[in-house]
Amino acid sequence: MNNAELANEVNKRRTFAIISHPDAGKTTITEQMLLFGGVVREAGTVKAKKSGTFAKSDWMEIEKKRGISVTSSVMQFDYDGKRINILDTPGHEDFSEDTYRTLMAVDSAVMVIDAAKGIEPQTKKLFQICKMRGIPIFTFMNKFDRDAREPLDLLSEVEDVLGVETYPMNWPIGMGRGLKGLYDRYNHRVALTHPEDENNPYIQLDKDGQIPADHPLRQDSIWQETLDEVELIEAAGNSLDEDKIATGDLTPVFFGSALTNFGVETFLQTYLNYAPKPSNHKTLDESIIKANDTVFSGFIFKIQANMNPQHRDRIAFVRICSGEFDRGMDVTLGRTGKGIRLSNSTQFMADSREIVETAVAGDIIGLYDTGNFQIGDSIYSGKNKVEFEKLPQFTPELFVRVMAKNVMKQKSFHKGIEQLVQEGAIQLYRSYNSNEYILGAVGQLQFEVFQFRMLNEYNSEIVMESLGHKTARWINPDQLDEKMASTRNLLVKDRQDAPLFLFENKFAENWFKGKYPDVELTSKL
Ligand code: G4P
Repeated sequence: MNNAELANEVNKRRTFAIISHPDAGKTTITEQMLLFGGVVREAGTVKAKKSGTFAKSDWMEIEKKRGISVTSSVMQFDYDGKRINILDTPGHEDFSEDTYRTLMAVDSAVMVIDAAKGIEPQTKKLFQICKMRGIPIFTFMNKFDRDAREPLDLLSEVEDVLGVETYPMNWPIGMGRGLKGLYDRYNHRVALTHPEDENNPYIQLDKDGQIPADHPLRQDSIWQETLDEVELIEAAGNSLDEDKIATGDLTPVFFGSALTNFGVETFLQTYLNYAPKPSNHKTLDESIIKANDTVFSGFIFKIQANMNPQHRDRIAFVRICSGEFDRGMDVTLGRTGKGIRLSNSTQFMADSREIVETAVAGDIIGLYDTGNFQIGDSIYSGKNKVEFEKLPQFTPELFVRVMAKNVMKQKSFHKGIEQLVQEGAIQLYRSYNSNEYILGAVGQLQFEVFQFRMLNEYNSEIVMESLGHKTARWINPDQLDEKMASTRNLLVKDRQDAPLFLFENKFAENWFKGKYPDVELTSKL
């Protein structure tokens, strides 16, 4: 590719994640998008994969059991002249640090909310990571084919709970069985749920925002109610500020129903008008790598083990930040300065894993890895060293005490822990005095994967004893008195030997703060 072709390809990329609480409809909306992109022919394909009916023989047991698949981790398709990469952020028990790190590899996010439930815990957590990155976030209020909460109520919840401004791009005309359509402010039209002419579901609004006087909807009281609400948001709501969208300070909100495919395509089209092209990336030495620089660079944000236990192979997921990837190219691994040939690569489609020949900034590629890569590693071609900024560490919420089942096998136990911790698969702590090992994770699956990999890759059978949910708070070592520890606030140290308390709950933390008002506690290092 020459420079102009490369820039053209990069500018076509739109790379985003869909964030939501389990069951809000992420899979359903993803599937609709894939249908528009012509990638799947039938609704239900992604779903089938999710529920495990797409078994592939060579996946690790735990993958099969959970129905997590590499192929559905990244989905690529073309739509409207753009090449779209959707990165999956798994929910339920699959939730892990990987889920958070995936958000480091996207340029924007779509937040799907179940309109009957509003903001749920996982949505909030994922939203906060996106907010921290300052990337655009678009909201889809789903399930309006069922009775939902009042739209105004939903908007104020988003504003109050998430601390972001909202701008409704459209407005539901009724809800549930009474859903007549959407008042589309952005496209200045009404989209009907049951149009007389299937091929033309839209009615243009006149300059006063009205539909034609003879349209049956004009006689329906819901129409006037909708107009009143739209008038209210026009008068009292925020304006559509593109700068605020770009920094994630304002989220455009869409209403619809993924299941009945109502409002989804309009959402996708409008979203793609605003979704940013691949962004530039900062390096450790504060220089900027531009997405359309011709020299290849990227970073590893996720490592997925273990496709084939016999070969201990893993896939390292790379977000390309600049230049063009060509299969077989030579790159340098920033951390070690070692040269590596990238001959074994894979790209991700909705229903197949394919060998990728070329890819550009914005794309995600998978590299088969035999232990060279760690999460956060940078790779680059060219002579100038590129090391991207470190990926953030996320404070774990779940903890277990861990030990080797067979005390005679300490060596493999320690080796396994050391390597997996270094890879970023799990967080390690030790109790302050006895040096017992304590593991921390953001989701239960991380422990299970850890246990599985210890056994399969290091031949180390482990015993884990749950300590349950804890709140981790670091304490200034100068202020530490070991007598402050109790069963409700365990004193441990992290890998850098920094002391922290694991509080049993908010109550225990507040009690501690009341007792030691001068002691500073921080949630992150
Ligand atoms: P997730 O990936 O966010 O976990 O959610 P998913 O798409 O799997 O959807 C969760 C459930 O919500 C599914 O029902 C799905 O059919 C339903 N759903 C998704 N979007 C809508 C919508 O717009 N309206 C309504 N009414 N329901 C919706 P399920 O019974 O759990 O699964 P299934 O057996 O029906 O597939």
